[in-house]
Amino acid sequence: MRYLVTGGAGFIGSNFIRFLFRKYGEAARVVNLDKLTYAGIRENLAEFEGSPSYKFLQGDIANAADVAEGYKGTDGSGVDVVVNFAAETHVDRSLMEAGTFIETDVHGVLVLLEEARKHASLKRFVQISTDEVYGSIASGSFIETDALNPRNPYSASKAGGDRMAYAYAQTYGLPVIVTRASNNFGPWQYPEKLIPLFVTNAIDDLPLPLYGDGRNIRDWLFVDDHCAAIDFLIGHGENSETYNIGGGNERENREITSTILRLLAKPDTLIRRVADRTGHDRRYSIETSKLEGLGFRIDRDFDEALVRTVEWYRSNEGWWRAIKERSAEFKEYYAKQYEKR
Ligand code: NAD
Ligand code: TYD
Repeated sequence: MRYLVTGGAGFIGSNFIRFLFRKYGEAARVVNLDKLTYAGIRENLAEFEGSPSYKFLQGDIANAADVAEGYKGTDGSGVDVVVNFAAETHVDRSLMEAGTFIETDVHGVLVLLEEARKHASLKRFVQISTDEVYGSIASGSFIETDALNPRNPYSASKAGGDRMAYAYAQTYGLPVIVTRASNNFGPWQYPEKLIPLFVTNAIDDLPLPLYGDGRNIRDWLFVDDHCAAIDFLIGHGENSETYNIGGGNERENREITSTILRLLAKPDTLIRRVADRTGHDRRYSIETSKLEGLGFRIDRDFDEALVRTVEWYRSNEGWWRAIKERSAEFKEYYAKQYEKR
């Protein structure tokens, strides 16, 4: 199968490309189109560079010429499947500046869809959306037909891309699938998100900045399970349909924080209660019976996956120290986000 993966230098995209080569070997041919924003790290996939099955293209999904180049595939023969991971992804950054979120997460999706219309042989276009488009829910869980109620600029822009992909399926008959996954965690996650930030801060005995009362709930999904679900849906999903992908692991942030500290044998005194995030969604929860009804089983062993993740950050200090200690952009972001909090 010939894939165009966008955002493949980021966290989930790089895990997905590694998943494809692990599962399909040379039968998978992958173009990775990535702008290399602050979150994109080309070296994440250094092991595949030079292989005829893999082509890295630095480019912007909001740029029609870059996108047209990506659709040519690794050898100019085209692609069968597009998986769009490329996005601005951090809620806290969207509260500082939302324009780039609209440009990539909405307009970028439109540019990818417009190019898709020129490729009649395209078999799938997977738009990677998020459970955050539903907004917060006090009790129960969202199903795919529930109304969208995004409550921050990140989730609002993702909702725009999500519905634009659906609109192109309805209007032009494109073979679109939309996936809405819950919070991912695992190796190669940029250390601005809760789990990698807290693990790496704890390793260095730095404070763990827990927002508000620490009782917000997220449903945690191990990144490999997410990749397996996307691969399954490429094969078994129905066009024009939307699928929730949840981990079935709802946890309060304060519980995750304590577990991380326990796994690293660090004291609870590292927890620093800080001012809450503006408009902080209280709880995310999604129902996954639609995906499971197709025969896919999600591996729900959260505890084991968290142990593996903590171990990965312990064994790969060079990777995250390059970001936290040597990236001027990260340092500036961290100071702005946390220093006066
Ligand atoms: P990430 O921030 O780690 O990576 C995003 C990647 O996209 C980076 O490599 C970046 O360089 C690239 N990118 C950004 N703008 C681009 C552009 N205009 N053109 C080309 N490339 C661009 O993100 P992630 O956590 O891996 O998330 C991947 C996707 O999954 C996103 O669409 C996100 O909304 C969705 N998602 C993430 C989670 C999660 O918990 N991380 C959960 C559900 C859905
Ligand atoms: P995050 O990883 O940013 O993902 P999202 O906001 O997309 O769910 O945050 C997960 C939860 O952790 C969320 O409730 C906010 C909280 N959080 C903190 O308490 N402190 C932090 O420093 C960060 C980054 C997040």
